[in-house]
Amino acid sequence: MNTQPVILTGLRANNDLHIGNHFGALLPLIDMARTKSADYQINLFVPDLHSFTTPIDHAELQAQIVHNIRLFAAAGLPLDDPNIHIYRQSYVPAHSELTWILDCFTGFGEMSRMTQFKDKSAKLNEDRVSVGLFNYPVLMAADILLYGASYVPVGEDQSQHLEFTRNIAERLNNQFGELFTVPKPVKDQHTFFGKDQGLRIKDLVDPTKKMSKSDESAKGIIFLGDAPEEAARKIMGATTDSVGVVHYDPTNQPGISNLLTIHALLSGETIEAVAEHHDGDTSYGDLKKEVAEQVKDFLTDFQAKLTEVNDAQLLAKLEAGEAAMNLIADATLLRVQQAVGLRPKAA
Ligand code: TRP
Repeated sequence: MNTQPVILTGLRANNDLHIGNHFGALLPLIDMARTKSADYQINLFVPDLHSFTTPIDHAELQAQIVHNIRLFAAAGLPLDDPNIHIYRQSYVPAHSELTWILDCFTGFGEMSRMTQFKDKSAKLNEDRVSVGLFNYPVLMAADILLYGASYVPVGEDQSQHLEFTRNIAERLNNQFGELFTVPKPVKDQHTFFGKDQGLRIKDLVDPTKKMSKSDESAKGIIFLGDAPEEAARKIMGATTDSVGVVHYDPTNQPGISNLLTIHALLSGETIEAVAEHHDGDTSYGDLKKEVAEQVKDFLTDFQAKLTEVNDAQLLAKLEAGEAAMNLIADATLLRVQQAVGLRPKAA
């Protein structure tokens, strides 16, 4: 039985990952896993059951799941660390079973107030708003509570779901005794993980918005799978301004500042160093060429690493993770089933 505190998070299943995700999410997560795995059990899973709470193309899903796990491996996620468990949610059936039980202790009103549900459902025709989308936070609570996770690194958009997880855990603990480990509150999570995730990459076409896959046009986004030449063209086409002089000034020169940010992230230099080096330059074209070249090299290198990912090793890692997680998850589920009267109490 593992007594180390658990850190747990979901790795996106089915969106195309881009360089904003790479520097803002993948690398920080991989770094966290590497530095904390000596003292914590690290659970990284693919929330595949969450991936069609809004409509998707199901013909693509299986390939996307595998592809995204390969991207994590190419970005440096260690596959040989026994304290880092990687698994697919749907391979651990207890997630679904616990969700049903938690559903029956969850208020319709409380789910209706979830901001993400309101935002996402507002974008869909009413008949496409699924009960699964409504229910999304309950499945997420099950993901966390099955493993007694204390630390859950999630973005701002997920903190309400984490609060809900704490509430439902406390609700059942109050009614049935100590069933669940209650995850730490959001502010403790920030202290633990460090709130600032560093530099943020913006959309190339509209540099006032962050680079985000939900954009209709892919012109402003550099995907990790983009052909290097095509990505270079996207940089050359990036929106700039009419100031005509390079300054790092995100408010007045968001496009140029974004190029400097990408430059800094790709070269591993600080934004200050890069900004100082280019400050006062009068050719936007030269800056773009330099960044385009860097992006091309970065993608060429990353895609070479991707082809080197050993699929057999990856699958073995997933299967080992899933076997280990089924044992832990089933033990939690049994305690809950006993508490609610679905199974006889242990003698
Ligand atoms: N909802 C999370 C996201 O969109 C993914 C996720 C699903 C998750 N279950 C989780 C994250 C449990 C942390 C813990 O990013």
